[in-house]
Amino acid sequence: MKALVLHHLNEFPSLDENYANPVPEKDELLVKLTYAALNRRDYWITQGQYPNIKLPVIMGSDGCGYIGDRRVLLYPAIGWGSNKRHQADSFQPLGMPKNGTLAEYIAVQPSYVYDAPDYLTDAEAACIGMAGLTAFRALFSRAELRGEDRVLINGVGGGVALMACQLALAAGCEVHVTSGSDEKIDLALKLGAIAGYNYKKENWHKSVIKEGIHFDVIVDSAGGPGFSNLIKIAAPGGRIVTYGGTHGALQNLNTQIIFWRQLSILGSTMGSPTEFKELLHFISKYQIRPIIDRLYHWDTTDQAFEALRDSHQFGKIVFSLQ
Ligand SMILES: NC(=O)c1ccc[n+]([C@@H]2O[C@H](COP(=O)([O-])OP(=O)(O)OC[C@H]3O[C@@H](n4cnc5c(N)ncnc54)[C@H](OP(=O)(O)O)[C@@H]3O)[C@@H](O)[C@H]2O)c1
Repeated sequence: MKALVLHHLNEFPSLDENYANPVPEKDELLVKLTYAALNRRDYWITQGQYPNIKLPVIMGSDGCGYIGDRRVLLYPAIGWGSNKRHQADSFQPLGMPKNGTLAEYIAVQPSYVYDAPDYLTDAEAACIGMAGLTAFRALFSRAELRGEDRVLINGVGGGVALMACQLALAAGCEVHVTSGSDEKIDLALKLGAIAGYNYKKENWHKSVIKEGIHFDVIVDSAGGPGFSNLIKIAAPGGRIVTYGGTHGALQNLNTQIIFWRQLSILGSTMGSPTEFKELLHFISKYQIRPIIDRLYHWDTTDQAFEALRDSHQFGKIVFSLQ
């Protein structure tokens, strides 16, 4: 089969046209994949910025495909375990160390296979996995989002962030966004966000404070020095969910604001199969369509990884595997 295999760090994965087809173990099912989507994790792995890297590996956590006539999408990990508060030690996203979805076939346990929502194309369904699950748990399980909440999505150009924006809008929330790109802010406003701020402008948060705006829920994957500004614009009782550290370690956190405003800073990572099922129910109920930035093919895989590296996309980077 064709597969996109990472052999060495600091290079992009390469196409292997003769990779051995997976042989399903015990009750595993063989899925013929049609589309897969990238996440920043895939880029971190190529750069060696991920724990316990084992190579070679077929990359990719997200995929849509077929088992016979059944159109399915995959839970993007294995081994969550039985505790809904946190994952088990054995938890691992697909695509390192276990082979992932950037291939023509994958073997998975039946419990990780879900019917793809009818109204989505294969390519759209392939986008849901990691981004949707992470956004869903962060918003609903961790921040306990309600329709009356005012929400800030930091860095809306991110795959998870954009999905969080779509989910929060569907839940009826007033959604504000930040981005390092004015164009991406405009696109988020077209989706229904009410206001946007460019985080590259120094002291952007001060204009928010000046307007008297505070946020009940803030969703962040950047961390870094900018996180301290998010604390300043959180409403009393606010919940700030962090699921990433793209911009580095947290700095200069003002503990007085955190305790006086009764803020909660909540860590969140992906989600359980139960939450994945709830996510699929939610997106089907509101007919949410994941946004695709661009479709790539076997002969344009380097361009896809370059796009991921440079973060110019608005929406998911998707591969056709046909
Ligand atoms: N814990 C988990 O389960 C989990 C799951 C998925 C992802 N993650 C982590 O979350 C992060 C995002 O992942 P992703 O797949 O959504 O990535 P992505 O699609 O590549 O998005 C990256 C986005 O981060 C935003 N960003 C960069 N620097 C920023 C800053 N200083 N302030 C605010 N936003 C900034 C940018 O938004 P703009 O383009 O709008 O400027 C950029 O587009 C990564 O660090 C990833 O490892 C964690």
